[in-house]
Amino acid sequence: MSETTTELSPPTDRDLPPAADVGVTVVEADADTTAGSHDTDMATIVELCKRRGLIFQSSEIYGGLRGAWDFGPLGAALKDNVKAAWRRAMVQLRDDVVALDASILMHPRVWEASGHVEGFTDPLVECTSCNRRYRADQMETNKAGEPYCPECGGTRFTAPRAFNLMFRTFVGPTEDTSAQVWLRPETAQAMFVDFAHVQLTSRQKIPFGIAQVGKSFRNEITPRNFIFRVREFEQMEMEFFVRPGSDEAWHDYWIAQRWNWYVGLGMRPQNLRIRPHAADELSHYAKATVDVEYRFPFAWSELEGIANRTDFDLRRHAEFSGKDLSYYDQDRDERYVPYVIEPAAGVDRSALAFLVDAYREETAVSASGKQERRTVLRLHHALAPVKVAVLPLSRNEQLVPTAREVNDVLKPRWMAQYDDAGSIGKRYRRQDEVGTPFCVTVDFQTVEEDRAVTVRDRDSMSQDRVAIDRLTAYLDERLRLG
Ligand code: GAP
Repeated sequence: MSETTTELSPPTDRDLPPAADVGVTVVEADADTTAGSHDTDMATIVELCKRRGLIFQSSEIYGGLRGAWDFGPLGAALKDNVKAAWRRAMVQLRDDVVALDASILMHPRVWEASGHVEGFTDPLVECTSCNRRYRADQMETNKAGEPYCPECGGTRFTAPRAFNLMFRTFVGPTEDTSAQVWLRPETAQAMFVDFAHVQLTSRQKIPFGIAQVGKSFRNEITPRNFIFRVREFEQMEMEFFVRPGSDEAWHDYWIAQRWNWYVGLGMRPQNLRIRPHAADELSHYAKATVDVEYRFPFAWSELEGIANRTDFDLRRHAEFSGKDLSYYDQDRDERYVPYVIEPAAGVDRSALAFLVDAYREETAVSASGKQERRTVLRLHHALAPVKVAVLPLSRNEQLVPTAREVNDVLKPRWMAQYDDAGSIGKRYRRQDEVGTPFCVTVDFQTVEEDRAVTVRDRDSMSQDRVAIDRLTAYLDERLRLG
């Protein structure tokens, strides 16, 4: 690779981020992880997800596969909405970030250069009584405070050995090491490997970022906590390339941006915190990392990592590929290897946190003045799987054609659901439970008198009478999708 400048002129305003005035909660690296009392627990969330077909075990009819989950119709919509909200904030609304959709299988040398072949390991121990395997740093302890095997109660384990988390497979018909490839354990590497090509073709100047959403795979020793730690998951990662020397300011900037993203989508700030990594916790590539942590019912745990990866990855790929991955700053006639700030979030984990945060069991007063218990997901409208439900008061043949007509008007605009099964109260509860912001009821007054419908708001349960002709304009005004 060509010589890279080592002495750069000091960063100017052009290199630095705009000032961000955002209050984030920062805790110590060794902060207590106890979640404390909570609005809900994991069993309740898992039960709701299963019962409503949001998320359930993969291959359930065969007894399931550990660490793998399927997203049903509503879960798939929720996940799509999380990804769309991320893409909107990270790419669409910015001039300085572009998208990438790289292949999952990459040249095996990528993972040598990145350090994953050598170092992407967790310490594995085995119970000497029942041979169950555990991650040594995540063992449960018994009353005496010593690690024990939840399977058989044993307290003797083999010495920890490094277990590589990458799944391997083969390309083509021969199954030998020359044909061996890895399922990517992070989406990030494609952004480094494709850096020069994307920079050139998108005509971006530093500072700029490359963003990608896609599947990653890790052979986790102990998948757990529902979809929190799984073996196949989706990541939303962005590599932001900056001039060395401006990296710390950009790191702070992205921490604030990412905090705002969660809060802007309705996550309660008291359930979020920023925890910087201690020196001995940092990945091999990072100069500094913070975790955005969420107060899950089981513990404060990582939602997203925001790392200052320095020029580690670009230098390593330049070294291993023999290609020049430095950047030439024309205006200054300077050449350097960019530093990288990386906000790396998980789709599955974010979806779980949004579900947990939105979950409420409450006593509410219905329009008819009755007190009733209800479960409601107070999801941000942009995340709600269904935006509006169309509910004919009954299956009466007078009502159905108009209800269908209303459904047809709404469907091209928003994810709408037609539901005519059961009492109207029951149907409202069904929609509340999956977070549908609005229910539209078609009744006899609609067809006999006013061609208007009743629109019920999920959160306040207040009802408005709205002319069918004005319905899309009304919902346009009230749905907060941005
Ligand atoms: N490129 C950096 C990187 O991959 P990471 O902290 O290992 O960093 C980023 O992963 C995010 O991906 C995590 O914060 C988490 O949301 C998600 N993630 C990682 N491993 C996961 C797993 N086994 N199950 C579900 N999500 C996972």
